Amino acid sequence: MDRSYWEKIAPDYNEEIFDVLQQDKKGYIKKAIHKFASPKASVIDIGCAIGKWLPVLSPAFKKVMAVDISAKNLTIAKKNFPQLQNVEYKRADMSSGTSSFSGFDMALCVNAILTDSLKKRIHFFSNIRKSLKKGGHLVLVVPSLESWLLTRIIQNQWKIDKRLFNTSLSEGEAKKRYAGIQQGNVEIDNVATKHYLGEELELLLSKEGFEVIQKQKINYDWHTEFIQPPHWLKEPRPWDWMVVARKIK
Ligand SMILES: C[S@@+](CC[C@H](N)C(=O)[O-])C[C@H]1O[C@@H](n2cnc3c(N)ncnc32)[C@H](O)[C@@H]1O
Repeated sequence: MDRSYWEKIAPDYNEEIFDVLQQDKKGYIKKAIHKFASPKASVIDIGCAIGKWLPVLSPAFKKVMAVDISAKNLTIAKKNFPQLQNVEYKRADMSSGTSSFSGFDMALCVNAILTDSLKKRIHFFSNIRKSLKKGGHLVLVVPSLESWLLTRIIQNQWKIDKRLFNTSLSEGEAKKRYAGIQQGNVEIDNVATKHYLGEELELLLSKEGFEVIQKQKINYDWHTEFIQPPHWLKEPRPWDWMVVARKIK
């Protein structure tokens, strides 16, 4: 999942990429953002893509920095929201060894730390920390590994969307995926994508100098996982993890 992957997806972003803002029906992420919003505060939207969160952030903060690895995504974001005057756009790779961002009061990062490379993720988390001032807050959303597994268990037991979950793989591919799954890297549309355990996230953030102040599920409908979910399948629902954390070091 490098820059070329995201540049390629950009023209069809809306069709290809899951819309967390739309699907968070209870608005938990918006509520978390508004807890730290202020007309005096600055916010950095890390992995902003085509700018879906910008209309939420722009009126609530003094200054918004919209950052993405994809130049095409940023061009679309700028075109989508010319009326948002306090937004600055910057192309940057947050998984590289260096970052020029610092001093923000809040960072929002929604489903952007997805790379299967541990080295890149270590840089990514470290760069997020550097972007915040001490006492600043992070609102982070990532895919849940528990939810991914629950989906497969339910699919197998009740034979849901059987053809789509065809598991016949070559030996080489099966070996690769077996190694990947043990690190939380599982395939989404045939691309190895990092998914996180709740406890893993808490540990990662505390090692990075954050205090976790809220961790919760952002629940979705089963139609986001299955074409034809059984009518009885309601709870538990699939989810992403949202963590709210304060930079303490
Ligand atoms: C799944 S999209 C989520 C977009 C947006 N946060 C949202 O919720 O609508 C992930 C975004 O993260 C960006 N991204 C991935 N890796 C990145 C990196 N290393 N540095 C900056 N942005 C990155 C991608 O280009 C893509 O736009």
